[in-house]
Amino acid sequence: MKIDLSGVHYGQLKESEKKYDAARLKNDIEGAKKYAQVCANFEKLLAEDVPGQAKAHLDKAKRWEEIVRTAGTAPRKKIVDRVDKGSENEDDFSGFGDTLIETSTVTWKDIGGLAEVKSLIMETVVIAGLSKPESIKPDKGILLFGPPGTGKTLLAAAAAGSLKATFYNVKIGSIISKYVGESSKLITSLYDSARKHAPSFVFIDELDAITMSRDDDQSEASRKVLASLLTELDGFQDKKSDKLILTIAATNTPKKLDDAILSRFPKRIYTPLPDKKACQEILKIQTKGLDISNIDLEKIGTMCVNKNYSGRDLQSVCRDAIKSMTQRVNKDIFDNIEKMAELPFEELQKKTLRTGPLTMEDFNKAIARVKSPLEPKDIKEQETFNKDFGSS
Ligand SMILES: Nc1ncnc2c1ncn2[C@@H]1O[C@H](COP(=O)(O)OP(=O)(O)OP(=O)(O)O)[C@@H](O)[C@H]1O
Ligand SMILES: [Mg+2]
Repeated sequence: MKIDLSGVHYGQLKESEKKYDAARLKNDIEGAKKYAQVCANFEKLLAEDVPGQAKAHLDKAKRWEEIVRTAGTAPRKKIVDRVDKGSENEDDFSGFGDTLIETSTVTWKDIGGLAEVKSLIMETVVIAGLSKPESIKPDKGILLFGPPGTGKTLLAAAAAGSLKATFYNVKIGSIISKYVGESSKLITSLYDSARKHAPSFVFIDELDAITMSRDDDQSEASRKVLASLLTELDGFQDKKSDKLILTIAATNTPKKLDDAILSRFPKRIYTPLPDKKACQEILKIQTKGLDISNIDLEKIGTMCVNKNYSGRDLQSVCRDAIKSMTQRVNKDIFDNIEKMAELPFEELQKKTLRTGPLTMEDFNKAIARVKSPLEPKDIKEQETFNKDFGSS
């Protein structure tokens, strides 16, 4: 008996179309190509499911495949028009929010150091989540600021991941620059989706992209985005609602933030560079499952602090050290890499990459290679902002 899968395939096609749109929005060309191919495949399946409309589906499949070849250059409107003339309305952004949902499996345990930051966020989450009298107004927004790579995105993902909440990851800069005239509609759609899928965490990255000081189209778009954002933040504050929707915004240039924005995020939390103890914790997280019994973590921790490393730099150091160890332990493979590269995939899969103890030499070499992008004045600037505007 043939099972009718047309409904399932149609639903999957629509999901893939949304993912394709999201990838285009993020300028993720490889992602856009991938999902355009997935859409083509579903159109082909639909052609088999519904023989009466086979021609129309195959035609669309062909056009999606054309997009796979041209995704890097064709503008979105043209693509959407070409694929489904009339059925996708460029002005209808109602489904946009759903396309920003990401799955977060990060938990608090994946974050080294930042104990105070973690507990401040946890406190906000718990108070927002608890049943409480109407007179108690929880914070609905948190601002994270600090040098690049210090775990701001990771913290937001952990807050969402630990609560198994829906996680929205929004680079506000790309919304403003790509959808100058429409960006505030996108914010509304984002929060509509967050309400629908509560509990939700909306992570707004690059908050500093909302700048109103210049007199151009982007500033106008910023003003509208800010107005929509404030409506959403205020709206939740006033309404008695048991739905948890928390906004976590982040910036690594807090000095650029307009006063209007700052005043709406009274909870401003600094994510500093890791201290010695935090460096050691991050090093352990980043080498999880490997033998580090020969490593003097104290010594490496001190070296990392002296080099002004962020969590991201520590991740690079660990990757580099692990690579050296892997090459050492698998000499038979790495000495014959050209021969190995010619093997069919199935043959490669039969071989296993071995691991061995990491050595101080692996770390010393990695530390010599990795350089922090920060200047002492950048760190000073963040610390000064924290002193003047940060919450404790
Ligand atoms: N405290 C930390 N504990 C464990 N890993 C960390 C920590 N901080 C950073 N990392 C590592 O560095 C990577 C980058 O961190 P993340 O993206 O959260 O930084 P960020 O502060 O959001 O940077 P940016 O300001 O550039 O957006 C993480 O994916 C993680 O692997
Ligand atoms: Mg980030």
